[in-house]
Amino acid sequence: MDSSLNNSNIILDPLKLPQHVAIIMDGNGRWAKSKGLPRVYGHKKGAEVAKKIIYKTRELGIPYLTLFAFSKENWLRPKEEIEALLELLKIYLDAEFKEMEKNGIKFKVIGNKEDFPDDLQEKLNFVERATEKNDKMVLCMALSYGGRAEIIEAIKKLAEKIKEGKINPEEINEKLFRKFLYTTDIPDPDLLIRTSGELRISNFLLFQLAYTEFYFTPVYWPDFNEEEYLKALYSYQQRERRFGRVYEF
Ligand code: IPE
Ligand code: IPE
Ligand code: MG
Repeated sequence: MDSSLNNSNIILDPLKLPQHVAIIMDGNGRWAKSKGLPRVYGHKKGAEVAKKIIYKTRELGIPYLTLFAFSKENWLRPKEEIEALLELLKIYLDAEFKEMEKNGIKFKVIGNKEDFPDDLQEKLNFVERATEKNDKMVLCMALSYGGRAEIIEAIKKLAEKIKEGKINPEEINEKLFRKFLYTTDIPDPDLLIRTSGELRISNFLLFQLAYTEFYFTPVYWPDFNEEEYLKALYSYQQRERRFGRVYEF
């Protein structure tokens, strides 16, 4: 579909779309609180918004979308909230698996899958395997994900290879190091969106965000919608990415 066509008055340049959008979907709890509802309602509404944004990304032809759904640190939340979040994830996987298939979406988890209960791990593995060959878009879900944990795990695996004599320390460079990150095969995000007004990255993709463009919006995730998404993409298209170089004299 021509991505310049949409229902709002925001016109995007289809040739300048990011290849990879990463989103910190934040503000579910505060959204619920502002309506006098329990936090879980915010997560429920947030899951619906995530679904819409996934299909909008697919429709726009953006090949990679990473969603921060549960952080390593989120295990510190009350048990009931964690259980509700895991339940929502299960419901999402059951309900959307066929739709992912239909839309050519490949599902991939980054983070410590093994932290989750066995039945959820099995579901995640199943959907990953079943969608492995889909090639229209990669939906990367960050689950029990921590950026520092990812880097430390990568270093451990690398150290193991060195110990086995399979890698010589001299060979280590950025390209080789990336092979040990969860995001092997996934390009760095071009655009990071964080909702809810917080101006921090909360341990998300620490290595990969080095040259990413950031977009912060005060909108709580459950109120985020296509229009807000297009605004973020439009803002991205106005940026000049210099990667340390000089383009004008
Ligand atoms: C984001 O919303 C969802 C998760 C972290 C799982 P929050 O639950 O963090 O909502 P706030 O930030 O407390 O409003
Ligand atoms: C980041 O949001 C994690 C997710 C959106 C899944 P948090 O709500 O956990 O981040 P902090 O605690 O405000 O930094
Ligand atoms: Mg939050």
